[in-house]
Amino acid sequence: MEREVLVKVKDLEVTFGEHRKKYVAVKKANFEIYKGETFGLVGESGSGKTTIGRAIMRIIPTSGGEIYYKGEKINGKISRELDRRVIKEIQMIFQDPQASLNERAKVDYIVSEGLMNIQKGISEKERKAKVEQALLDVGLLPEFMSRFPHEFSGGQRQRIGIARALIMEPDFIIADEPISALDVSIRAQVLNLLSDMQKKRQITYLFIAHDLSVMRYITDRIAVIHKGEIVEMAETEELITHAVHPYTKALLSAIPMPDPQYERQKKLLVYNPAIHCYEIDKPEWREIRPGHFVWANEEETARYQAEMQQA
Ligand SMILES: Nc1ncnc2c1ncn2[C@@H]1O[C@H](COP(=O)(O)OP(=O)(O)OP(=O)(O)O)[C@@H](O)[C@H]1O
Ligand SMILES: [Mg+2]
Repeated sequence: MEREVLVKVKDLEVTFGEHRKKYVAVKKANFEIYKGETFGLVGESGSGKTTIGRAIMRIIPTSGGEIYYKGEKINGKISRELDRRVIKEIQMIFQDPQASLNERAKVDYIVSEGLMNIQKGISEKERKAKVEQALLDVGLLPEFMSRFPHEFSGGQRQRIGIARALIMEPDFIIADEPISALDVSIRAQVLNLLSDMQKKRQITYLFIAHDLSVMRYITDRIAVIHKGEIVEMAETEELITHAVHPYTKALLSAIPMPDPQYERQKKLLVYNPAIHCYEIDKPEWREIRPGHFVWANEEETARYQAEMQQA
């Protein structure tokens, strides 16, 4: 069965600065996100994950390539009507709950600000009711409405951020490290909340994280990004068991295993980009098994495929 593509990113490039200070933060990124799935984007700090999320959100401009949402191109110049739809249907849960809430505004305003922008004529009664429901949905009390962000814990603040996204009834949510800043004890709560919302409302997620430990449990497919370049992408199970790119392998070696004996003997792999010889034999984005893509040249592709057959 052909799956419905919700988001398609094609040869996406994002640069910051100009001329000699120009910095390419995302290089020719390619991936598709299917409707209803949780798609993971993983890579170390500074690799360009948030930048990709912000480019899809139209918060920052793209310098090359295309982004499609429900088949329509949404980067660059778009119609006002499409812009309004994108603003409503695509929401982002921001990386840092300490920095992403307006400290001067009450929760009531923070949660409904986006809603008021797209439904200018909404009555006060309806707005309040929607805020109440959004707070209840994320397990917060409606009376929190009249409080300020500084009166909340990190986990509660992250829930406020989630309520602010959910109130828009989005189809697609970019969750940018939504649990990284939280205590271990509340991480599961926030993950379960996101997963419940997905079941109830068929939301599609782009889930961003810097390691694979949580990702492997919650994503359907994963793309691995290194210094602005997506190096490997596959279904989660396939990626965990049959990774071929040395950077993915390094990330995998850092996942803690339940066996303490094994853990003590384990060697963490270090990724050294200098091992690739790309001067003559140039790398390309190649599908080495159905649905399993890797950034590799011909020599590497042959080697990776042989490796997979042995495994
Ligand atoms: N507005 C900006 N202006 C200039 N450079 C930027 C800007 N935003 C991001 N960058 C640079 O682009 C690169 C990618 O940043 P990005 O925030 O996307 O990384 P990330 O993968 O989300 O990292 P982290 O895991 O730390 O959140 C970094 O080198 C960063 O310094
Ligand atoms: Mg980030």
